[in-house]
Amino acid sequence: MTRTTIIAANWKMNGDLTLVDQMSTALNNIEVAENVKVVVCPSFPFLAALTEKIAHDQVYTGAQNMSEHEKGAYTGEVASQMLTNLSVQYVILGHSERRSYYGETSDLVADKVKVALSAGLTPILCIGESEQERTSGQTEQVLVSQLQPVIDAIGIDAFKDVVVAYEPVWAIGTGKTASPEMAQETHAFIRDYFAQHNESVAQQLPLLYGGSMNGANCENLLAQADIDGGLIGGASLKVDEFPVICSTAKGI
Ligand code: PGA
Repeated sequence: MTRTTIIAANWKMNGDLTLVDQMSTALNNIEVAENVKVVVCPSFPFLAALTEKIAHDQVYTGAQNMSEHEKGAYTGEVASQMLTNLSVQYVILGHSERRSYYGETSDLVADKVKVALSAGLTPILCIGESEQERTSGQTEQVLVSQLQPVIDAIGIDAFKDVVVAYEPVWAIGTGKTASPEMAQETHAFIRDYFAQHNESVAQQLPLLYGGSMNGANCENLLAQADIDGGLIGGASLKVDEFPVICSTAKGI
């Protein structure tokens, strides 16, 4: 079964026009394996410039969030159609920072995934447990509670156009990566959960790992059978490191 490998950069609230210039130049010159896609997600103000500068047919841009509303009086929000208008193709939804700092519930995230899909965007749906949830043995239950509302909202078949990123909250920005074995075990659980609903959707679903992935640990993580790429924060801001991660991904 061939799955697309995706290496996604989540710049979070970092970066500037200089980084847009430097990273687009670096990425326009990378060599990546055939079924690898690279997605760079800067803050909203930089999306247009970055999208314009990218000139590599395996490199795409994505937003870090999006409104659940299609348009209207929602001051400060950004609509799905505004993203497609800029030729942006991906959107990160349900990142743990959105869930914890901005109170996004799994039901709200499900609404956003639905709106993104109907606009023709590919959602990168983030799920993950906290340290306390892992140590108290609740990881699987938490992941299911984050996934099921989305499955209910869009239907299992729609996941053929969705990317899922497993990001253990305790590994994000901490330098504490999940071991490749631990990440693989959780990814296998997630794929199996989808397989209970639809085996072929489960087999083609790209499952990314996120949480302190970097140039030094990416090879071992990406070598795991159910890890189909990465969602990378800190290391994605480094012009000499992120392109190396992209080229390390071998694809399947
Ligand atoms: P990190 O962030 O790579 O800095 O841990 C990953 C993420 O939050 O997407």
